[in-house]
Amino acid sequence: MDRIENIGYGEDLPYDVIRLTEFLRDGVPEVGFIESTLGGLSGRRCLELCSGTGRLAVRLAEGGGDVWAIDGSRTMMRFMRKRIDALKSPLGDRLHVTRGDICLVPYPPQMDIVILADGALGYLLDACSMESVLRKCSHSLKREGVLLAHLFNPQVRRRRDRADQGVWTCSVYGDNSGLAVVQRRRTTAEAGGILKTEYWETFIADGVTVRETSRVMRYRLPKSEEVLERAQHFGFRLTATYGGFDMSPVGEGLDTILVMKRDP
Ligand SMILES: C[S@@+](CC[C@H](N)C(=O)[O-])C[C@H]1O[C@@H](n2cnc3c(N)ncnc32)[C@H](O)[C@@H]1O
Repeated sequence: MDRIENIGYGEDLPYDVIRLTEFLRDGVPEVGFIESTLGGLSGRRCLELCSGTGRLAVRLAEGGGDVWAIDGSRTMMRFMRKRIDALKSPLGDRLHVTRGDICLVPYPPQMDIVILADGALGYLLDACSMESVLRKCSHSLKREGVLLAHLFNPQVRRRRDRADQGVWTCSVYGDNSGLAVVQRRRTTAEAGGILKTEYWETFIADGVTVRETSRVMRYRLPKSEEVLERAQHFGFRLTATYGGFDMSPVGEGLDTILVMKRDP
């Protein structure tokens, strides 16, 4: 499956998104949350959409879950493969990975949980994509199966992305491989609540520029009301809302974790 239609940034990702997902986020707070929501992981059928480098999917499989992971990015898949190869105990056939667009590829049946972690719904830029994904989630889940959606806090995100100012920001990244990346980016607000970030990246090795890229990434910050209203059309009901994976109550400045169940 080579064609990604509904990905907010074309075929691949800017360096900082990969870096943030892969290198900076050690914790996987979702695991304990999912374990207690499902009453254990062993033998539970879990589907993670937009699974990136497998930060969560691999941990769920290590915990005994039977896990399916879908993501559209070649680079993220490569990192996931490295992560799997580095494991001390092999996962056997507990992790099934598909590269493809979550709006287009089929989902496996009889899932106990479908997970949209790390603001994944925000990559679906229009109502039609979100509905197609929610419909597929509903078909994929068992009766009473759980749909878990992590939504970023819009105020915090907008401030961070400087959507109002539209200023250019510059960052320099380095990693152990000796590669340095100079990145300029600017986020502006577009119609329909879409945030557009333009990226210009220069990759430097041993003082020599090896690659220059420019990318555009689009993202939305869906509100919980919107997600719930659409999810209801596909037979979901809200069972809990939290302000974090520590099960804290929803509060100002916090993200929202929606726990929904498919009707019996
Ligand atoms: C910030 S990463 C999050 C990774 C992962 N969920 C985590 O929590 O570590 C977002 C991921 O969404 C994927 N993505 C975005 N839109 C997608 C789509 N329409 N189909 C498949 N993957 C998509 C990207 O390729 C990227 O790997």
